[in-house]
Amino acid sequence: MTDQPLATPVDLRGRPLRDLRVSVTDRCNLRCRYCMPREVFGADFPFLERDELLSFEELERLVRVFVTLGVRKIRLTGGEPLLRRDLPDLVRRLADVDGLEDLALTSNGVLLPRMAGELADAGLRRVTVSLDALDDATFRAVSDTTVPVQAVLDGIAAARAAGLAPVKVNAVLQRGVNDDQVETLAGWARDTGVTLRFIEFMDVGTTNRWQRDRVVPAAEVAERIAARWPIEPVEPAQPGEVAERYRYVDGAGEVGIIASVTRPFCGTCSRARLSAVGELFTCLFAAAGHDLRAVLRDGADDAALAAAVAGVWARRDDRASEVRAEGGLEGPRVEMSYIGG
Ligand code: GTP
Ligand code: 5AD
Ligand code: SF4
Ligand code: SF4
Repeated sequence: MTDQPLATPVDLRGRPLRDLRVSVTDRCNLRCRYCMPREVFGADFPFLERDELLSFEELERLVRVFVTLGVRKIRLTGGEPLLRRDLPDLVRRLADVDGLEDLALTSNGVLLPRMAGELADAGLRRVTVSLDALDDATFRAVSDTTVPVQAVLDGIAAARAAGLAPVKVNAVLQRGVNDDQVETLAGWARDTGVTLRFIEFMDVGTTNRWQRDRVVPAAEVAERIAARWPIEPVEPAQPGEVAERYRYVDGAGEVGIIASVTRPFCGTCSRARLSAVGELFTCLFAAAGHDLRAVLRDGADDAALAAAVAGVWARRDDRASEVRAEGGLEGPRVEMSYIGG
């Protein structure tokens, strides 16, 4: 590995590579209907086998290579990343990587009561928990589970107690399903002190039966929150932030809205995604990835790996959410549980 950082690759639209989202498993212990509908992801679904997954050694090596290329932020995702065996060992390896400024994890929270302490000890800095409803029946319907919402709330509390702060909470809104939860979730987040972000329902993958009229537009969400608790916009801390941030005028913290459908943010998108088997995806809506595992297992040295990544990034032209906004996004695309949220 060279000591000198390499030049950060820039894609065909002038966007640098800054963030890497690493999926460590395609499995999940919930079956959210907008992500892993049970009819598709049932007992017979061909999930990845353990021996296909990148090992922690391979993942660490790839992450080090990505950092030499300018990546500063890593997010571990899945599926549900806490289902990956010995995940704290991976966290420990990545926490030590020089040059990495942020190491976060996205989880559904169910296993956090058991694992938050160990993850914090291993060097994880913060977690983002997905929670689409506080009402138990709505939560269980959305997530197609018998797990009570209290398990997720306990997970959030465990993360906070372990110092995995700030805890962010992501809520995907769907019209007629959980859009009645906007004020309930916002009020709870204000009282609890977590940073809540509402996400517009997206047409990721091909199995979630997305319909445009199910999307609750960001503008409507902001209006509803403001009607209850006045808010004002906050300037982005960094270019390329996905969440539009608002501050509560009364000082009760912030709330964010991720308007991927109505106000796409492809123009500043600096995110790459790595599947659990080591395919590099340059967009959440990509049809296929680039096989880095093959390059790795062919015996490539770090310089060759870096060149492979830089070459893929240099040819990147993705802007899927803008294309959707302009009229239509078509063609095959990978599932979110496979490449990671
Ligand atoms: P922080 O690191 O805490 O700032 O997180 P973030 O703002 O990047 O948000 P997070 O990683 O929690 O992502 C939240 C959600 O935004 C994801 O689950 C996706 O639904 C959506 N999202 C994130 N990145 C992208 C992206 O590149 N494209 C699109 N279309 N949506 C994205
Ligand atoms: N649209 C928007 N967000 C989604 N997520 C999963 N599927 C979708 C979708 N179709 C969110 C999850 C979680 C994160 C990993 O991605 O709720 O917060
Ligand atoms: Fe699992 Fe998250 Fe997908 Fe729900 S959204 S099925 S918790 S990966
Ligand atoms: Fe980035 Fe693709 Fe999302 Fe646009 S749609 S923000 S290019 S990942």
